[in-house]
Amino acid sequence: MPELTLFPQPQHLQRKPGAFTVNAHTRIFAADGVPGDMLAGYLRPATGFGLPLHPLDDDILADALNAILLVPADGDMADEAYSLDVSPERVSLRAGGRAGFLHAIQTLRQLLPPQILADAPQDGVTWTMPCLSISDAPAFAWRGLHLDVGRHMFPVDFIKKFIDTMAFYKFNTFHWHLTEDQGWRLEIKKYPRLTEVGAFRAETPIPATPKQGDGKPYGGFYTQDEAREIVAHAADRGITVMPEIEVPGHARAALTAYPELGCVGEGYQLRRTWGIDPDIYCAGEDRVFSFLADVFEETLDIFPSEFIHIGGDEAPKQRWAACPKCQARIKAEGLADEDELQSWFIRQIESWLNERGRRLIGWDEILEGGLAPNATVMSWRGSDGGIAAANAGHDVVMTPNTYCYLDYYQHEDWTREPPAIASTLTLEQTWQFAVIPEAIAANKAGHILGGQGNIWTEYIPSTDHVEYMAFPRAIALADILWNHPRERSYDALVQRVHAHLPCLDILGVNYRPLDD
Ligand code: ACM
Ligand code: ZN
Repeated sequence: MPELTLFPQPQHLQRKPGAFTVNAHTRIFAADGVPGDMLAGYLRPATGFGLPLHPLDDDILADALNAILLVPADGDMADEAYSLDVSPERVSLRAGGRAGFLHAIQTLRQLLPPQILADAPQDGVTWTMPCLSISDAPAFAWRGLHLDVGRHMFPVDFIKKFIDTMAFYKFNTFHWHLTEDQGWRLEIKKYPRLTEVGAFRAETPIPATPKQGDGKPYGGFYTQDEAREIVAHAADRGITVMPEIEVPGHARAALTAYPELGCVGEGYQLRRTWGIDPDIYCAGEDRVFSFLADVFEETLDIFPSEFIHIGGDEAPKQRWAACPKCQARIKAEGLADEDELQSWFIRQIESWLNERGRRLIGWDEILEGGLAPNATVMSWRGSDGGIAAANAGHDVVMTPNTYCYLDYYQHEDWTREPPAIASTLTLEQTWQFAVIPEAIAANKAGHILGGQGNIWTEYIPSTDHVEYMAFPRAIALADILWNHPRERSYDALVQRVHAHLPCLDILGVNYRPLDD
């Protein structure tokens, strides 16, 4: 039998003799409320077949020929779990919930010839898939990719394409980093200056010589309608869009729009260079908290995700140290220092979010000065923050820069690559990502919700470049997060990626070619 290459690799797969062929007479039978329309929508463009959708009943289940059946699992299959049985007569997809059906559908797409991924009819292809039995479920509940649209932003259609590609690899969380020192990207109706002023910077560092600006104004933002369109597009494909609104740092665009929110109170401009900005929200100013409540209220209205990311990273404390209002807050709240003031700040936001049924997640700096009681930690400065948080009983998402920073160079020889941030993360290094570090107590491992690849875009000005940095490293991450392989042969990974590249070619994804 020819090799089968699936990304991510299913947990259990048994090959059988024979094949099923989708043809002009194939019908799809779907139970009520099951996404048969998604399957038909994926198969019709390339095949040109009608693939009519029919309701499912018991007779069909046993007897249908030349049929694809979507059958709700009777038993206690988890929402994301599915099985897929291919026989010469029929293909049966069973799942615990809608998410599981969507995963089964993505697996089915990968079982067909790669031309199935084309968006127009393909001549001369026989649409066969090998007979087999798959029983599958994810190892981790959080399988994410992050995209920074503060440093550079990308059109709505690209965000949707990126989400489509994520769905193909069974990612389920799109972490959308929406606010930065160099640009505020989400329309907030109550504070129009956030996007009128905060979305536009005077210039951008030149990638090859980042100390120099390019002299060209840059900016833009997503309207609330556009953000909602992206949330709906993602939800259809089983992906949650988690927004990130950064506090207390990475706030220079907001301070430029509303200077009264900063300790100094005037003279701000959007950053024209990369790096960490000393100006952050004033923790002593009550208006900051009413502003943030308003901003988060509009944000929650757009994004139904359980988790709301509040940033929390890279917030220098020198302004707070010199600010009478911040010092008064430290005194009034009985805090020891600026680290505890940051912790107090995050706790204000956390209780506000919790009252509205949402959960706060932040970068691992939110551990400094004491973690908010219900906070989830996104560990990025290596794994230590994640280890500390999990051992203290907090949930954690692992995104250590040593394995998950997809903005890093993909080769040790930087001269061979487009300019990137000054670190290296090869595909081979990514493939060594241990989602659960050994230093986490066995009884705390359940706090590791999963992991995520992060795409910071200081050096990534175009959509092609986003894809070049994301793929194929994100495919390796998808594999790790789905089936958490114990044994990892890099040679075997490379062979699988190589065999899989025609899929990316047909999807029109601009991946980085494998090294010879
Ligand atoms: C980060 O990379 N500053 C979270
Ligand atoms: Zn202050």
